[in-house]
Amino acid sequence: QETGCLSIIVLGASGDLAKKKTFPALFHLFAQGFLQSDEVHIFGYARSKISDDDLRNRIRGYLVQGKTSDAVQLEEVSKFLKLIKYVSGSYDSAEGFQKLDKEISEHEVSRNSAEGTSRRLFYFALPPSVYPSVCKMIKHYCMNKSDLGGWTRIVVEKPFGKDLASAEKLSSQIGELFDEPQIYRIDHYLGKELVQNLLVLRFANRFFLPLWNRDNIDNVQIVFREDFGTEGRGGYFDEYGIIRDIIQNHLLQVLCLVAMEKPISLKPEHIRDEKVKVLQSVLPIKDEEVVLGQYEGYRDDPTVPDHSNTPTFATMVLRIHNERWEGVPFIMKAGKALSSRKAEIRVQFKDVPGDIFRCKKQGRNEFVIRLQPSEAMYMKLTVKKPGLEMSTVQSELDLSYRQRYQGVTIPEAYERLILDTIRGDQQHFVRRDELKAAWEIFTPLLHRIDNGEVKSLPYKPGSRGPAKADELLEKAGYVQTHGY
Ligand code: BG6
Repeated sequence: QETGCLSIIVLGASGDLAKKKTFPALFHLFAQGFLQSDEVHIFGYARSKISDDDLRNRIRGYLVQGKTSDAVQLEEVSKFLKLIKYVSGSYDSAEGFQKLDKEISEHEVSRNSAEGTSRRLFYFALPPSVYPSVCKMIKHYCMNKSDLGGWTRIVVEKPFGKDLASAEKLSSQIGELFDEPQIYRIDHYLGKELVQNLLVLRFANRFFLPLWNRDNIDNVQIVFREDFGTEGRGGYFDEYGIIRDIIQNHLLQVLCLVAMEKPISLKPEHIRDEKVKVLQSVLPIKDEEVVLGQYEGYRDDPTVPDHSNTPTFATMVLRIHNERWEGVPFIMKAGKALSSRKAEIRVQFKDVPGDIFRCKKQGRNEFVIRLQPSEAMYMKLTVKKPGLEMSTVQSELDLSYRQRYQGVTIPEAYERLILDTIRGDQQHFVRRDELKAAWEIFTPLLHRIDNGEVKSLPYKPGSRGPAKADELLEKAGYVQTHGY
């Protein structure tokens, strides 16, 4: 374990992401002893002219929601808030970043970093439009200067561009200033417990090894559903849409882990090499295998243009051209303002050949990994219906985390990933070539949507999305389970 002074700089400290995700994650790490008061200092940087206490109070508001009676928690919150300092400045001002550097350096001197290394972690809770200038400022004014070693790392959030060309441009701009091991492209789905479990599940269980291929699997669904709309983010969302917001990153990362070959070791580079290979094997998406939707009322948001064609829902089939997966549709589904909130992976197996029970209609074997809410894995299988008759019924083997791991708190994705950035583990972060390959898959379709060549169909908020999406699912081979 590295020791020595650690400065965490949250850029965009007064924004939504910082308040809702970054600071709470840092607090939880602090409360669990991963951030030591004698080593760590947290700096908030943003344009607003506010004081240290203003920022602390805002963060406090988020941390103590609904838990005000817990005295121990309040005590921890106060200790945590003491570690935070605020520096105001714009994102392209030399003066602002010089001031920031001065504050960080003073902290390093006061923590006597001569005894250890000096570590600087810059967390970008910022719109990507300012990434290039912020990177320049950090590079010029705020790099770790300790002779004794240490590091400077940056953590960047999506959206990384809008298509292949803009993403590549952004990557080059950042790449000219920082080396790949310094850049942590965060995709918070990679920090979710059941996403991290995928490698273990696939490669540590004999059950799955022989079955995980085109001979046995009929289709795979990777699903994201939210039961709320864009809620005040209409302006941002309309520029991006559901494919750039969810499918191109979160769901595609899940697809990689479901479909990749076994890496030669657990080293981050070995895992990421395999992910890139899967991405590069995905065939171009066909318009006839895409259904887009937009929920009614989406355009009521004053920041959304009246004629917007931006999808808030998409179902599409991805096809992987390799020996393991040829012919197996990977159905990606994502939507806002639907009937429920859920993210899951559904692996549906082929029918049993020579079905002597004539139970085909009841459904197929299915293995479901529910990422959220209530993490679980279950296998749907056919059993004899208990009783005197020889008839069959669909049942399940259920591993529900809440029951099985009572008392275990599952860490928040951001918490885990921020800890990885401090430890220098890039396994759960997106590498530059991975990002490029991801954009290569979606860019042609996105351009056709942006040009209005592929239209979004209306759907009712609180519904399952456009009916055409279910038709596409059926066409792709998914068989709905009955009597279940
Ligand atoms: C974000 C998207 O990346 O993920 C949001 O920008 C979405 O639109 C969110 O709501 C979903 O994250 P989670 O962890 O709640 O599934």
